[in-house]
Amino acid sequence: MSEEKKQQVSRRQFLNYTLMGVGGFMAAGLLISPVRMAIDPVLKSTGAGDLANVGLSVDDITSEPQRIDWSIDQVDGWYESQVNRSAWVYRNDSDEIIAFSPICKHLGCVVSWEGSDQYPDEFFCPCHDGRYYKDGVNVPGTPPLAPLDEYEMEIKDGMLFLGDPKPHREA
Ligand code: FES
Repeated sequence: MSEEKKQQVSRRQFLNYTLMGVGGFMAAGLLISPVRMAIDPVLKSTGAGDLANVGLSVDDITSEPQRIDWSIDQVDGWYESQVNRSAWVYRNDSDEIIAFSPICKHLGCVVSWEGSDQYPDEFFCPCHDGRYYKDGVNVPGTPPLAPLDEYEMEIKDGMLFLGDPKPHREA
């Protein structure tokens, strides 16, 4: 093979690699934008972890559990919605503010404070007679197998802010 022939082959390979490289960059550039647009809502923070002002002054929180309701804006991928939330809020014997999720840990019904005349001073779930003590711990021998979840909380300017429900501190 002559030296000139070797050079021609080498040039052809060089051109092939160059064209493939440039084509690859162009294809990647064309793909990045739509892919970024497609997954952008997933990458965005939903704000679900933010704490919301639930409209209750801490001065109005007593030792008697009271139900409060509020709503938050939730972004789930491309879908934005308002989600209603509820909590049972009171002060315990140590004057700590407690906010329980009302969602029963058995099958997800809603519990009420003193929901049964038969069991005063307890949270009661009417679906299967689930019971919880005032501290949120499930009464042994009733269907729920775990204590009520507790909301993460913060107090700002005398108002109660609640975030997401977390497992009970004794769970
Ligand atoms: S869902 Fe509450 S006891 Fe079954």
